Amino acid sequence: MTTTPSIELKPSSTPLATADREAILANPGFGRHFTDHMVTIKWTEGRGWHDGQLVPYGPLSLDPATNVLHYAQEIFEGLKAYRQPDGTVATFRPDANARRFQSSARRLGMPELPVETFIEACDLLVKQDIDWVPAHGGEESLYLRPFMIATEVGLGVKPANEYLFVVIASPAGAYFPGGVKPVSIWLSEDRVRAVPGGMGDAKTGGNYAASLLAQAEAAAKGCDQVAYLDAVEHKWVEELGGMNLYFVYGNKIVTPTLTGSLLAGVTRDSLLSVARDLGYESEEARVSIDQWKTDSENGTLTEVFACGTAAVITPVGTVKCNAGEWQQSGGQPGEVTLKLREALLDIQRGKAGDRHGWMHGL
Ligand code: COI
Repeated sequence: MTTTPSIELKPSSTPLATADREAILANPGFGRHFTDHMVTIKWTEGRGWHDGQLVPYGPLSLDPATNVLHYAQEIFEGLKAYRQPDGTVATFRPDANARRFQSSARRLGMPELPVETFIEACDLLVKQDIDWVPAHGGEESLYLRPFMIATEVGLGVKPANEYLFVVIASPAGAYFPGGVKPVSIWLSEDRVRAVPGGMGDAKTGGNYAASLLAQAEAAAKGCDQVAYLDAVEHKWVEELGGMNLYFVYGNKIVTPTLTGSLLAGVTRDSLLSVARDLGYESEEARVSIDQWKTDSENGTLTEVFACGTAAVITPVGTVKCNAGEWQQSGGQPGEVTLKLREALLDIQRGKAGDRHGWMHGL
């Protein structure tokens, strides 16, 4: 049963003193500070969604036998709210995140939150904590993290009969401390992130947990990020630990096809259109590790970049794999990468026309 909850406003918590907030907003980092409130909505079998509330940000109290702590039945999203030139605030494609949240829920055997409730919950939190949305002009934004966990208490392995949906918010600067400085990539040829028929296309914490060891190995090799290949042939490039990839061939940008084992990123999808708006060709295709190396060396592959809500667009510089290492764009941010980055950010910050109707005003 799906009932759409109304979200009740609870009295405000005491907000941080303005000076503290201003200091945080001046250098927010990524995922380090959280706003004053959160939204919570419960789901119970036989009752559906209920008890939607906007409450002060604070700890969740969970029984140690709560299902999610043992079997990881959890999904999440990431989207951003941007301050517009007139001082108002708008979120970027919240409907796309809401639909992906439903798709992740289906894969994890969880209830689907109605799209309009997902958007209402995000809107309500941003409106309440609007002073936490960074000023217009820079690249900073308010990052929203909706998530859902199985809250049934018990150790039986089965879809839970109770869930909690929560939205929290965090002012965000660059995900990588270097900003647009190119990141280095370790191409993992043995560890895989996801398998066909698995849950690689769901945004669930388990996929990120599965990426951590290879990420640590990448760091040990002096790289910022790990890139994964497909699990069957160990040949086709899939994605990074938490971002999609794009390959730039002169005037054409290519991103790995959604085979079911990689995440359908909202930024990835948006760039297929933004590229065409700028006069580039864009397509989805399979890209092999050999092609990546050979085309970089023969100069046809001119740039590579990573993309995601948190990372926006981040150029790739050095690439390392078992067969050696090479540099994209001489280790500098490429021209197409930077143009796409600017064009996307301009839409999000309200500096360019929203021809695709992606911005959602509050
Ligand atoms: C996002 O880009 O929103 C993500 O969820 C990725 C995560 C690595 C921060």
